[in-house]
Amino acid sequence: MERFIFVLGSNWQLSLAELDNYLKFSKYRGRIIDYSANLAIVEFDDLHQDPHYINKLMEIQFNLGGCQKISKIFDFIDINTIKDSFPIQMQKFKHVESTRKKIINIIDNVIIGKKGIFPKVYESMFFAVSIYPNLYDDRYYSEILVKHFLPFLNKEISTVLRQKGSIKVLYYQYPEKNIKSGNLNPIFPHHIIKYDLLNENRAEIIFGFTEEGAYLGRTFTTDNPNFKKKIDEERPNKEFKSSISPKLAIIMLNFLNLFENREDKKILDPFVGNGTIALFSILQDFQIYGSDNNLTKVNNTIRNIHWLLSSIEEEIPPYTHQRIIKQDARSLSKKFDSYFFDGICTEPELGPFYLKKPYYSQARELIDNELEPLYDDFFREAYKILKPNSRICFISPIINTIDGNDIQVNIDKIASKHNFCIVPLLDLNRIISKSNQKLKFRKQQVRTLIDAKKGQIVKRKIYVLEKNE
Ligand SMILES: C[S@@+](CC[C@H](N)C(=O)[O-])C[C@H]1O[C@@H](n2cnc3c(N)ncnc32)[C@H](O)[C@@H]1O
Repeated sequence: MERFIFVLGSNWQLSLAELDNYLKFSKYRGRIIDYSANLAIVEFDDLHQDPHYINKLMEIQFNLGGCQKISKIFDFIDINTIKDSFPIQMQKFKHVESTRKKIINIIDNVIIGKKGIFPKVYESMFFAVSIYPNLYDDRYYSEILVKHFLPFLNKEISTVLRQKGSIKVLYYQYPEKNIKSGNLNPIFPHHIIKYDLLNENRAEIIFGFTEEGAYLGRTFTTDNPNFKKKIDEERPNKEFKSSISPKLAIIMLNFLNLFENREDKKILDPFVGNGTIALFSILQDFQIYGSDNNLTKVNNTIRNIHWLLSSIEEEIPPYTHQRIIKQDARSLSKKFDSYFFDGICTEPELGPFYLKKPYYSQARELIDNELEPLYDDFFREAYKILKPNSRICFISPIINTIDGNDIQVNIDKIASKHNFCIVPLLDLNRIISKSNQKLKFRKQQVRTLIDAKKGQIVKRKIYVLEKNE
């Protein structure tokens, strides 16, 4: 059975939840059999039986917002073998030497060969080793894996390639200062593109660590961050303060659980703003509808959609003006028919963009007088226009106040008042349990997940809600 490493996005919990949900409900059924704060190890039910499965991996990569790369696993080295060969403190060199031989044997067997990382030997070859630790703040990563294991791998892999007949072998050199300090990021997706690491005589070779050991893989597909960045930054109308990232937009769309026949699925963003969700839902093949109570924002989204379609050389349909409209989210049912939409995906009004933390009383006032009544009316309307059992993926703010307390809208109360149930983002029955506290999930934690950068005053809390019948 083939297994794959999925390198997760920077919000690893959210990326893991997105992936698990995708493997549970899309046509590419599978399971996460192991994970760390950087990667998930995936076994598919039958995808690997298809001789053209790389095309399918490319489709999966494109569909996921929180996946940086997908690599095929060629072998596994258990954690005791690694720690015996690269101990924190060397006691007996003989023992270290003999266990290192085990690793060298594994490398010997998987680097070249019909079913190896490189199926053929070329005169000139290039590789980049990426080590993904179990957790970045792990001392074993900075002290041992970066400083000793990485140089060992570069040397041994080069030796094997030369022994098998390659004349010119080069490998990716990380900056010396990062190696010395132990503060090293594995190569990013844009490096894979820049260095052509998907070519036959070149490769990214991943050593992905979990608590169990290191999975040894070769990268087959990668995210194209430049494409997402271009759409995010070059669209005619943008406003970074109030826009979600492209990755988050895609992750949210996936939580609607609409994986089949997306071109027939009608989805709505009723707080469309400059249209981040709208643009990425077009790329993901949905029929997008959007509304906003601010006419300038409506026009901005229409302009952005037209720009996107012309930049990907697609025809501009005549109906954008009918689908992106000025409408208050408190009265959606005046403009949209009952049971019309297959899903709603939105980042609503979250309040002002605070440059300084507000007082608790200010944030309380905002929530009680503005946000809660707005969300309450929106959920009432959403119930009317959604099809039975369809979903809303919704962001609600958590405001960090000067008094030190976080304050948020009571979405549970609003959801149950309007007959929606909260769907946990991660199904804990499908996830193996971990001994490290930082990797463990608790039930309460996965009902919603948070997306925020360090020190952000307003954090985004992501909810998935399903319409009860
Ligand atoms: C946080 S922004 C959404 C940003 C959007 N996700 C983007 O990428 O540009 C919230 C939007 O909600 C709109 N809005 C505020 N109150 C509204 C209401 N009652 N009905 C509809 N739209 C509203 C604002 O005009 C604003 O464009």
